[in-house]
Amino acid sequence: MAGPTYIVTGGAGFIGANLVAELLRREPDAHVVVVDNFRTGSYANLVEACDRAEVGAFRGSVQPDSVADLSWQPALVALAPKAVFHLGAITDTLVFDEKEMLAENTEPFADIVDACVETGTPLVYASSAATYGSPSQGDAREPFPESAAGKPNNVYGFSKWLMDAEVFRLFDQCDAAGEPRPHIVGLRYFNVFGPGEARKGTMASMVWHLTNQLLDGKRPRLFEFGEHARDQVYVKDIVSQTIGSASEGVTPGVYNAGSGVATSFNDIAHAAIAALGLDVEVEYFRMPDEMVPTYQHYTCADMSAARDGLGFSPGWTPADGIADYVGWIRDERARASVPSGATSA
Ligand SMILES: NC(=O)c1ccc[n+]([C@@H]2O[C@H](COP(=O)([O-])OP(=O)(O)OC[C@H]3O[C@@H](n4cnc5c(N)ncnc54)[C@H](O)[C@@H]3O)[C@@H](O)[C@H]2O)c1
Repeated sequence: MAGPTYIVTGGAGFIGANLVAELLRREPDAHVVVVDNFRTGSYANLVEACDRAEVGAFRGSVQPDSVADLSWQPALVALAPKAVFHLGAITDTLVFDEKEMLAENTEPFADIVDACVETGTPLVYASSAATYGSPSQGDAREPFPESAAGKPNNVYGFSKWLMDAEVFRLFDQCDAAGEPRPHIVGLRYFNVFGPGEARKGTMASMVWHLTNQLLDGKRPRLFEFGEHARDQVYVKDIVSQTIGSASEGVTPGVYNAGSGVATSFNDIAHAAIAALGLDVEVEYFRMPDEMVPTYQHYTCADMSAARDGLGFSPGWTPADGIADYVGWIRDERARASVPSGATSA
């Protein structure tokens, strides 16, 4: 019997390609259909992710289109996927064209939701910690419960918040009608790092940037005085949580997807210095004034709802994940022996 089919939008991107490879590792006979417009994705992410996961060459299909161009209902009827993972989005948080951001990230979502509901297909989609903006929990340096979201600091976060809001509306309608909620899970990814992110350039994680600065023989550069802290989460955990969210028996909802730990930028720099066995001082520079009001100075995922509703707990501490990844970057650079093109923070 043929294996299951999965649709992964954004499957040529950083997280999407890792997700595709892990699906194939778990179910070698699965057929994966990637829908990606290659705005920031690349075929090379898929090739490399399959290589890392040792699943052989990618043998799925690729639809090189925007998610907005797909006729979702007929596609789901024809393909009968076991699940849809929707990760395709503008991921550059410095895109300030509001109309473009909402047209790309939010507008196609209603069609995807409708088609999944009508065909009874589980849907897992990527939301973001950017939906939180700067809640009071951040000032108190406490974990963010899911209820604290809704005041994003940029239009990227707003585009993701509108997706969550659409799902909340749908759930409310189901509750009012006494119907079960459809299998839809939104995951608010926090700061994800790990293999396969290099093509994100300036949008790659701080772990990637700081490690490459060090390997380029430079001092790691941070905004004064490195105390800003973010929930840094290893892509391996993000992929596990994402796949697990499509399993039978999970409670539909919108959940945090982080490590549950806030890691300061100083901690990242020191962890990278230690993992590389170097003796280097961090260099601090002033954050541009215009960035201060909208900068997320602190994020931390409260993972208790994900534990209860999805049965998921992170397997990697940020410290272990960073050490693992820094070693991987060092080895990868040694293998490739080419300059990284790393940029400053
Ligand atoms: N990496 C993180 O730290 C992080 C944090 C929060 C949320 N997210 C979300 O996770 C998802 C994956 O992000 P990533 O880090 O892998 O970024 P990425 O840029 O590497 O991947 C996004 C992929 O989506 C594709 N894409 C963009 N617009 C599309 C469209 N309209 N139709 C089809 N494909 C489209 C891109 O070409 C790319 O392959 C995104 O939805 C992002 O918003 C990521």
